[in-house]
Amino acid sequence: MNKFIKCLNNQEKDYIPIWFMRQAGRHLPEFRKIRKENPNFVNLCFNTKLCTEITLQPISRYDLDAAIIFSDILLIPHVLGQNLEFKKNGPNLSSFSMSKLNLNDPKNFLSKLEPIYKSITEVREKLNDNKAVIGFVGAPWTLIVYMLNLKDNNNLLVKKKYNRSQILEIKEILIRYICSHIKEQFQSGADVIQVFDSWSSLIPESDFEDLSIKANLSIVEFCKENKIPVICFPRGIKEKYKNFVDTVKPNCINIDYEVDPEWAYENLKDVSIQGGLNPNKLLLDTKVVIKEVEKYIKIFSNRPYIFNLGHGLLPKTNPEILNKVIEKVRVNI
Ligand code: CP3
Repeated sequence: MNKFIKCLNNQEKDYIPIWFMRQAGRHLPEFRKIRKENPNFVNLCFNTKLCTEITLQPISRYDLDAAIIFSDILLIPHVLGQNLEFKKNGPNLSSFSMSKLNLNDPKNFLSKLEPIYKSITEVREKLNDNKAVIGFVGAPWTLIVYMLNLKDNNNLLVKKKYNRSQILEIKEILIRYICSHIKEQFQSGADVIQVFDSWSSLIPESDFEDLSIKANLSIVEFCKENKIPVICFPRGIKEKYKNFVDTVKPNCINIDYEVDPEWAYENLKDVSIQGGLNPNKLLLDTKVVIKEVEKYIKIFSNRPYIFNLGHGLLPKTNPEILNKVIEKVRVNI
C-alpha cells in the first residue's frame, strides 16, 4: 500500500505526503500553453490525451505524492443537460429544468464521461506505484449552487432563488450520479476520491443537516461500502467541522485556511487531516511561507497529516515557491 493511502487510513504518521489543490492548472506555464491552444475548456476536459498530459505536468515538475486528475466538478451538470461555458467571471451553466434532469439515465451518463475514465487509467499506468491518483467530485450542494445559480457576484446566497423542496429533490438525484461517477473513477484506477463542497458556507443553518451532513454522509457511506478511500472538503463551515467529522467520518478531512490548525488538532478526532495553508500566503516572502509550513507540520507532527492548502493554488503563484515548500516538508520526514 503506498504511503499516501496508509496516511489516509490513519495508519502512517511518520511520512507527510504532499500535493496541492489545483496543482494541474493555471499557475503552470506549460498548462497555460495548452490552454491557449484549446480555448474551449469543456472540450479540453473531454480530451483524454491532453487531460493525461496536464495531470502529469505537476508530477514532472515537482516531487509530489499524488496526481489529481485534470477535470472539473461541473462536468456532472454539463452531461446531465446544462451546457457549461467558462466566461470571464467564471463558470456558467445553461438554465436548469427538472424535467430535463429526469430524462437522464445512469448508463448514458457514464458513457458521456468515458474520456475522463480513460485518462485516469492512462495516468495510473504511467505513474510509479508509490504515487496516488486522486479522482474527485463536487458535493451535491456545491453542484446545486452552480446548477440553480444560487450565488451572486459577491459570493452570497441569493435567498429568493432558494426553493427548499426543489433543492432537496435535486440533491437526491445528484447523489446517485455522483456515486456512480466515483465508482467508475475508482474502477478506472483512482486510488482515492476527494469530495469538494466548496460552497458549504452558504447553506442556511436550518438546512445544514440535510445539505451538508446527510448529503456528504451518503457519499462517504457509498465509498466505504465500495472500499474507496475518501477525503471531504466542506469549505468554510468553521466550528461545524467537528460535527462534520464526528458524523460523516471520512478517511480524511481537508481543513480550509479559516480553521485554526491547533483547534483542528484538538477537535477533529479519528481522522487524518489534510491541508490548511492559505494559498494567499504562497505569494509572500519565502521566509514567511516556510514559517507557515513549519507551523502546520509541527502541530500535526504526531498524527497522520497530508500537506496541502486550505483552498486552490492561485494562478499567480510562482512555481518555484512550491519547490521550496516541498523541500521543507521532505526534510521534516
Ligand atoms: O489541479 C487540479 O486541482 C485538478 C483539476 C480541477 C479543476 N477544477 C480544473 C480547473 C479541480 C479539482 C477542480 C475542482 C473545482 N471546479 C471546484 C472545487 C474546488 C474549488 O476550487 O473550490 C470548483 C468549485 C470548480 C468550478 C470551477 N472550475 C470554477 C469556479 C472555475 C473558474 C475559476 C477557477 O477557480 O479557476 C473553474 C475552472 C477551472 N477548473 C480551471 C481549472 C484548471 C481554470 C480554467 C481556465 O484555464 O481558464
